[in-house]
Amino acid sequence: MKYRILHYGEEPLKKVSEPVKEIDNDIKVLVKDMFETMYAANGVGLAAPQIGKNIRVVVIDCGDDPLAMINPSIIKKKGKEKGPEGCLSFPGLSEDVVRATNVVAEYTNPDDGELYEVEAEGLLARAIQHEVDHLNGVVFVDRMSEARRLQIRNELDIIRHGGTLRTEGEEEQQQELNDSMFEAK
Ligand code: NI
Repeated sequence: MKYRILHYGEEPLKKVSEPVKEIDNDIKVLVKDMFETMYAANGVGLAAPQIGKNIRVVVIDCGDDPLAMINPSIIKKKGKEKGPEGCLSFPGLSEDVVRATNVVAEYTNPDDGELYEVEAEGLLARAIQHEVDHLNGVVFVDRMSEARRLQIRNELDIIRHGGTLRTEGEEEQQQELNDSMFEAK
């Protein structure tokens, strides 16, 4: 099942999410639905608050292996790097954000319920930091300077009111992607 992705300004995106206590079937179904929602939106990461659920569940796929993380936490950070970032809750917006270059994160794997560690750099490190932020009620514009936020306040208003910054062509592409996913089932 595909969920609606919340936009910037909606309440669940501002809240600190609760840890998952038990990995039951509901959580496994949620993880599957989150992947489906993320792929349909052409994203590389999605956190449960973005579909209105304030629990600590994250899915990421930067093109290597899909990664589902329950109760993720970043236990080591190294270096700093400025790079472009987007977010499915901010359709069409891309902005530079400073993040750690390397991270080590700990999480429970929903498939076997075991605790794992992942060492990441580059895009994956960025995605993990971005998604863990969501679980703490932080969105990527919160990581920008006040000055930059002011510069893009009109764009942020459009998004807050349910709009998109994607061009018509990009919207069409998105629609085609959604249709083709639907037909594949
Ligand atoms: Ni995001």
